Amino acid sequence: MKPPFLFLAALCPLLLRAGAQTALAPLKYLTIPLGKIKPSGWLMDQLKVQTNGLAGHQHEFYAYVSQTDWMGGNSYYSNLEEAGSYCQPHSNQCKSFRFPVLRPLSSRFNGVLGPEVNTTKPRYLWGRYPFMFGAIQMLEYDPSLTDQVVTALHKFVVVANAMLHAGQGVDAWAQTRWEDFVMVLQWLYDYHPNGKEDLLIDTMKYLKWTGVPWEKVFSEQNPFGLPLTWHGVNMAEGLKALPSTYRFTHNQTDLDVASKGWDMLFEYHGRPSGIYSADEYLAGLEAVRGTELCLVVETMFSGSYLYQVMGDPKFADRVEKITYNALPATLTGDMWSRQYLQQQNQIAAKNMNPNPFPNDGAYSNVFGLEPNYPCCTVNHPQGWPKFITNAFLMTPDKKSLVHLYLGPFETTVTLDSENQVKAVVDTQYPFSDVLTTRITATKAFTYYVRIPSWVVGGTIAIDGRVVQPVAPVNGLQAVSVKAGTTLFVLNLPAPVTTGMFSSSSGHSVPDFTSITESRPHGSIAVHRGPLHYAFDIPRNQTVLARNAQQPLAVDLQFDATAPWQYAIDPATLKFAPAAPPATLPSPIFDSGKPPVSITVSACPISWPIAGDTFAAPPPTNPTCTGSARTIRLTPFGATKLRIGEFPVVQLG
Ligand SMILES: *[C@@H]1O[C@H](CO)[C@@H](O)[C@H](O)[C@H]1NC(C)=O
Ligand SMILES: *[C@@H]1O[C@H](CO)[C@@H](O)[C@H](O)[C@H]1NC(C)=O
Ligand SMILES: *[C@@H]1O[C@H](CO)[C@@H](O)[C@H](O)[C@H]1NC(C)=O
Repeated sequence: MKPPFLFLAALCPLLLRAGAQTALAPLKYLTIPLGKIKPSGWLMDQLKVQTNGLAGHQHEFYAYVSQTDWMGGNSYYSNLEEAGSYCQPHSNQCKSFRFPVLRPLSSRFNGVLGPEVNTTKPRYLWGRYPFMFGAIQMLEYDPSLTDQVVTALHKFVVVANAMLHAGQGVDAWAQTRWEDFVMVLQWLYDYHPNGKEDLLIDTMKYLKWTGVPWEKVFSEQNPFGLPLTWHGVNMAEGLKALPSTYRFTHNQTDLDVASKGWDMLFEYHGRPSGIYSADEYLAGLEAVRGTELCLVVETMFSGSYLYQVMGDPKFADRVEKITYNALPATLTGDMWSRQYLQQQNQIAAKNMNPNPFPNDGAYSNVFGLEPNYPCCTVNHPQGWPKFITNAFLMTPDKKSLVHLYLGPFETTVTLDSENQVKAVVDTQYPFSDVLTTRITATKAFTYYVRIPSWVVGGTIAIDGRVVQPVAPVNGLQAVSVKAGTTLFVLNLPAPVTTGMFSSSSGHSVPDFTSITESRPHGSIAVHRGPLHYAFDIPRNQTVLARNAQQPLAVDLQFDATAPWQYAIDPATLKFAPAAPPATLPSPIFDSGKPPVSITVSACPISWPIAGDTFAAPPPTNPTCTGSARTIRLTPFGATKLRIGEFPVVQLG
């Protein structure tokens, strides 16, 4: 660039911005269109439980999902589309809901997606982002809608671009959640650019410029600076901002800051259940502070995207941990009632006065239809379906299939050179260490499967041949698949630990058994492999409210009916799996259902409650007030009242 031009550009940055754009950086891994990856076994059952629960029925009775509420309806719609593709019984519900959302797609003359409420109310961009995610899924599942959806999205990009240039449409949500629209624009760019590449990239840049500078939020100098970005759900969505930015800046610092920011978030606010705490705003490490359900599902989605852009297995390890622990823990087993905030140590779920959450209501940890706020009622259904959608990926050359999230699946996909591939994964993982994968392919190719960082002594046996140690590279085990059928068995055991994984990288730790994680007040949390284990406090329940139209939609109070005040001796932790059942019980994530547990020696201690309904911090160096006994810890996701962080004693 000649100096005079540089000078001009410095005076008027818009000159530079208007120029031709560089291409988007490629993704490390590509997603597979909706409908090609299907859950099976217990995971299919979990989707059915969700479909038969609040997620699959709320559009029949819940006001926020009716057409009158565009935002709530959109969040829900974007999830329903995905969930509907997995469960046949769900399809009709999905179609009936699709009709009203398609109408704005086809009839809006000026390119605006969604209703113009009235001309005196400003038109904001953000409420439309969840709709666009849903519309993309709709056309992936039903390609006959491609023209209709792509045309509508491109028309809307023209409107949005003009609005952004004119300084319009950006409210607090658009400012923090701009990355969701950037991802939609990048999907258009990758799959249906229609010659509009420059407009698409220009719109991405304007979204970033008019939004929160996440690179500052996640920087070490100024960790989590602004109130808006300390907000837990904004943070969960903002985790996607820098990787999405990288695709148009090609600036490695964007990725480095995203990766470091992820580690810092969990270092300062992390939970043994995999997630972080934010009861409205980031909430630190104390075990009674809350984690909002919306941020659980948004972090799962963001972690999947971070993996697709960066390929670092630490993102996948954590998404799997969140999915199998924090997500089911905050819903009743039948998925008809959900919390707003879950706690790591949760001795009651009830209206709490006082409550431990500085910015949320007394009703926040009740399991119900819409405790504290309605947002997680419409937003939580994305959790399981998006986990499934992102469980398999392709390498960018489309020559290889990658099995990322472990569990039971059936995936059918056409790889490069018309290679028709079907992978069937038969397993009870995470309730079992063994996964049997049968692949049929018309051509030979390299298949990859993730080996989680917590695995010690993992083995693979291909086509009945000798059992060999797994040898993952960057978290992935390569398996040479021949034309025809290939069958391999993975055994992925893990030691019982009192730490999850190193926060810097899941794969840099030489001796995993030595990992311990310091929790506040010298307390410890127990893990084995993908599951975190907790003491399941026996409970009774009181129905606090019942929806008038849908009697299954209940608000439930849970009270402890037995002591929970125990200290444990970590030297006595012992994995105690039951004989594997032929089929797992349904629903699996409820008290007493999973076939795995850990026993530990414990003794009763004096452990006060704070207020009248939540546990004080775990006592440091407690003394036993009664005789030692063995207690059983069970998967955190199956507990609804629990102790997940224990005081420590030595019982000799
Ligand atoms: C139009 O918007 C104004 C301002 O938000 C509001 O007072 C009015 O009720 C709205 N009218 C309709 C018909 O929605
Ligand atoms: C790269 O990004 C970082 C922050 O993410 C920023 O400080 C730096 O100026 C950027 N570099 C270039 C060349 O734009
Ligand atoms: C639940 O158990 C608690 C503690 O034993 C007791 O006070 C309460 O009355 C019980 N509630 C119900 C509904 O049984």
